[in-house]
Formats: sequence, structure tokens, C-alpha cells
Amino acid sequence: MPDAETAAAAVARQIAETVAARPDAILGLATGGTMEPVYAHLVRAHCEGLSFAHVRTVNLDEYVGLPPDHPNSYHSYMARHFLDHVDIPREHSLIPRGDREPEAAAREYAALLERLGPVDLQLLGVGHNGHIAFNEPGTPVDAPTRAVRLSPETRRANLRFFAGGETVPAEAVTMGTAQIMSARSLLALAVGDAKARALATALDGVIGPDCPASYLRLHPACTIIADRAACSDLY
Ligand code: F6R
Repeated sequence: MPDAETAAAAVARQIAETVAARPDAILGLATGGTMEPVYAHLVRAHCEGLSFAHVRTVNLDEYVGLPPDHPNSYHSYMARHFLDHVDIPREHSLIPRGDREPEAAAREYAALLERLGPVDLQLLGVGHNGHIAFNEPGTPVDAPTRAVRLSPETRRANLRFFAGGETVPAEAVTMGTAQIMSARSLLALAVGDAKARALATALDGVIGPDCPASYLRLHPACTIIADRAACSDLY
């Protein structure tokens, strides 16, 4: 795609088409800077008539130590960018809890995901270091939903969202790679030259734990959408 805006619009279109075709779809959602314009497009689609009333959503991750109403929690992010602006009933949206004992929160989230059944379309961003959700380098393809420590690189990359003086939490609860790979289809978005190295490693490098995004190549129904800048290291 020529630029980030076109790439985000293409991702939003694919999600909107999924919901139009299957109004009770289960969508896996992601957060982060990359996804903000995607949600803006989906909110616009909703204003133009697309209903999310029967959709169910599951999020990838949440910071440990942030209550849902903290401005940097992914609960707040989702409310601000998407959930508060569409007709999705609140009880249809699952996000891991960051304000509980982390292992217990991860177990509880894994059980909720199990009960819900397969995700129809899982949206994914790619971390600067090749992480997907908060499955950092070193994660095997079959890792469960669990509490994790964030790498220094990830914490540094996410510092831009936190107000001066605040630190990025050191831990998170994340959907595991096993759960991500069990989705019926995956839709990944990478934009900007800061993602070029990760995307090149994911697509051209060895498939393995050094770059969890490389696991996308193992999925039978994965679409990766990227802008020109993110593709700049591809052969
Ligand atoms: C967010 C998530 C992360 C982000 C990734 C990219 O729920 O799971 O994997 O997708 O860190 O973040 P941005 O888009 O801020 O560069």
C-alpha cells in the first residue's frame, strides 16, 4: 500500500466486510498506534449503517497494574477509539484484566476465550522486535495465554503513550501464540519504517521464536497489509 492511511483503510474494509457477511462474527482486536486509524474507519462505517450489535470481540492483551479506567489501559484505549462509538453491547467485549493477580487474570481470560470458541478474524499489529500481541522474542508457537514480562525494547517503544514521569508497566497479560494461531483468519497490519526490520524478518527470515511474527507464515488464512515504508527492507 502506498501509505499508512491507505493500509489502515484496507484493513478496516476487510473487518467491515467480515461483519457485513457475518453479523455475529467473533473479532480479535488489537491496540497500539497502528490501529487508531483502523478504528476511526470502523466508527465511520458504523455511522454509515454498519451494526456491531451482534459482534463479539476479544482483545489481545492488557498491562499488569493498570485498572480499566487508567488512561493507558487497553480497556480505556478500546473505549476511546472504538467501543464507546459503536453499538456493541459492553458484555460482548472481552479484554484481560490488568488489576488482578496476573497469573489468575491470565487463567480467567484463557477460560473465557475457550468458552467463546474460535475467533473468526484476528487483527494483529507487529512490534518493533517482531512481537505479536505481547508474545515477545523467545516465545514458542504454542504458548498459552499467560502473564509475561515486557522486553526493554517494547517498553521503550510504548513510552510515547505515557505521560511524562510515568513508566510503562513491566508486565502484561497476553493472548498466547497458540490462541492467536487458532483463529480462523489473521489480519496483520504494519506501517512505518520503524517496522521494516521486523516485517522483513517475519517474512524473509527463519520461522521461529526469535521473531514471533514469523509464525504468521504458518497460518493457512493470514493476510498481511503494510505500507511502503514498512516494506522497505523486504527483498
Ligand atoms: C497491541 C499489541 C501489540 C501492538 C504492537 C504494535 O494490542 O498486541 O502487539 O500491536 O506493539 O504497536 P504500535 O501499533 O503502537 O506500533
